[in-house]
Amino acid sequence: MAPAASFLQPCRGKKDDSSSTTPESLFHPVPIKPTPDDINIGAELTGSSIQKKDLLKILNSFVQKTEIKKLAEQYGLDSYLQGQAFTSFRQYCFETQTLPVDLHIVLSDILQGAGNITDIFPYFIRHAKQIFPHIDCLDDLKKISDLRNPAGWYPLARAKNRKIVFHAGPTNSGKTHHALERFITAKSGVYCAPLKLLVAEVFNKCNQRGTPCDLLTGEERTFAKNPDNPADHLSCSVEMVNLQNNYEVAVIDEIQLTRDSYRGWAWTRALLGIPADEIHLCGEAAAIELVKAICITTGENVEVRRYKRLTSLEIEKEALGSLTHVRAGDCIVCFSKADIFTVSRSLESRGIETAVIYGSLPPGTKLAQAAKFNDPKNTCKVLVATNAIGMGLNLHIRRIVFYSLIQPTINEKGEKEMEVLSVSSALQIAGRAGRYGTVWSTGYVTTFKNEDLPTLRNLLSQTPEVITQAGLHPTADQIELYAYHLPNSPLSNLMDIFVSLCTVDNSLYFMCTLTDFKFLADMIQHVPLPLRARYVFCCAPINKKSPYVCTMFLKFARQYSKNDAITFNWLCQHIGWPFQLPKTILDLVHLEAVFDVLDLYLWLSYRFVDLFPDAKMVRDVQKELDALIATGIVKLTTLLMNSDEGGENDSFELQTQKQKFYRSSESSGKRSIGKGKLTERLLAQGLLTPQMLRELQFEWTQTTKKKK
Ligand SMILES: Nc1ncnc2c1ncn2[C@@H]1O[C@H](COP(=O)(O)OP(=O)(O)O)[C@@H](O)[C@H]1O
Ligand SMILES: [Mg+2]
Repeated sequence: MAPAASFLQPCRGKKDDSSSTTPESLFHPVPIKPTPDDINIGAELTGSSIQKKDLLKILNSFVQKTEIKKLAEQYGLDSYLQGQAFTSFRQYCFETQTLPVDLHIVLSDILQGAGNITDIFPYFIRHAKQIFPHIDCLDDLKKISDLRNPAGWYPLARAKNRKIVFHAGPTNSGKTHHALERFITAKSGVYCAPLKLLVAEVFNKCNQRGTPCDLLTGEERTFAKNPDNPADHLSCSVEMVNLQNNYEVAVIDEIQLTRDSYRGWAWTRALLGIPADEIHLCGEAAAIELVKAICITTGENVEVRRYKRLTSLEIEKEALGSLTHVRAGDCIVCFSKADIFTVSRSLESRGIETAVIYGSLPPGTKLAQAAKFNDPKNTCKVLVATNAIGMGLNLHIRRIVFYSLIQPTINEKGEKEMEVLSVSSALQIAGRAGRYGTVWSTGYVTTFKNEDLPTLRNLLSQTPEVITQAGLHPTADQIELYAYHLPNSPLSNLMDIFVSLCTVDNSLYFMCTLTDFKFLADMIQHVPLPLRARYVFCCAPINKKSPYVCTMFLKFARQYSKNDAITFNWLCQHIGWPFQLPKTILDLVHLEAVFDVLDLYLWLSYRFVDLFPDAKMVRDVQKELDALIATGIVKLTTLLMNSDEGGENDSFELQTQKQKFYRSSESSGKRSIGKGKLTERLLAQGLLTPQMLRELQFEWTQTTKKKK
């Protein structure tokens, strides 16, 4: 038995996170009940029963012995587990009326001075193995979760001597353009993108250029020809790339995202595993050294091509100061929906038409808003957006105005934190100003507030933080093997044990955060599902902040476990179809969540074809919904105004939809949303800030006064 000392080191290979749960606390003891009907053979044999106080004395001195502690450690019990096991063992000895005969004899011998206190150890360790079954298979578990050589997981790619080209440079320097030229002219190719919008853009571009190209995302498959005759080119989201297919050229876009704490593993997998003759990586120069180091482990050479911005980018000398200074081609970048709403409302109250883009809008709506803003003939000349514009949208922006430089982020414990924008994000977003081939050949950037300008200047003068580690993720096979060894552990516990026992070469890699996975695993733990299906459900890319989406996720899992098909009819009862145009901002938020639920359905439909049979209808309805949201967002200010009336004038359908929404929100525990006045609900959801509320109240009283 190998000493378990290394097991004591918390979270090897993960990001430094001293505050996270210690791995020892992950192992929950399996309860063991004494058997009360046993006949007390031990007492008969030894001719004496053992007094509780004597027993306590023996056990206490057993526990305190240094040699016992050392021995226990060698069996895989660190100090935490020892404490737990000792307590449980003591309790077991006390509660049982009739000790096992062999233990009874040993204890009697010790009491009579005929035995040594260390003789208890075998009985203690027998008990410990019962309550912590993993210590018996620690070596096996460690072997399964040995992730030190991920390059070795992909024999097809290793069998090739791939040519690796790194296209490095800032945003708008033509990296993707050059890689795509190679992709389109190759005999066969795969393009891997971080976002569905980018997947669609390349799919369209490639087909327009006369090279048939298929599309593949978690939720969608489109064939240039037909499903039985796939094209030689494929545009896909990076998680979806199939590592069994040979291609002449593979493009992996935004390779720096390999450091992403949630999704980084997908870039690492693509980089190590695509068996293409040429791999073209596009991304920030900050990832060059890491890619080179990883390619030493694969024995491949990296050719670096550097690019400069195609247009110039100037930081303005003054901050915007006031929204009255907004000009055509401006994009105001905010980091919360509440700010988006405040800004667009203020602009519209000044008679300035705005386009709005934020992350949770459906793709069609985003494209429609982008097209409206880009169109020189359209009266809308100003864009209000979140960092969702950082990637994937073709936008004709003259100037980026940072409304603030503080970004809410979620830390590893799942808590919200406010952080100053990273250098990389600041450069990425600022870089969107001025685009090659548009009317704005020079880009400008500034802040809204005077006091933010020096900070922005400082951020933009730096180069992005060098990336030192690429993400990894346990595979379904590995988790299945774990489950085989620890059949009684819940999936989320298995993941924790995996992370705590795994060995990662942290000079190159880190283990990605599994919080989303575990969140879903906990949510459906009580639903009886086979492990594989459970694992797939937990991989679903859902927004866990939306109680409505989470509730629907749970309902899908329950239906699945009953082997009931999730039909279009069933779905309609839960999503309030046919939909109505949103009248208030809450309606809009709800419709966005419904869109996500339909996305979830489509995602599951590709993995469980039989039980999610109506993907086609769902897709049609989803398109309809996208169009509805696109229409709704145009009247954003009206939606915000209507919200003030508390929805008294809503149609019956809308009222019903809302009630359903609140009910489902409540049932999932987020009570704050469904309660109180509408304004309170908006505040609770962060859609309204107290400042915004005061402004609204002021405007409202002004308008009412005028009316009178
Ligand atoms: N050599 C080129 N000829 C024509 N258009 C180009 C060229 N290089 C870049 N572009 C265009 O400039 C824009 C920015 O290029 P892109 O490749 O997306 O930059 P990056 O990937 O570095 O952010 C795109 O619209 C792209 O089509
Ligand atoms: Mg690019």
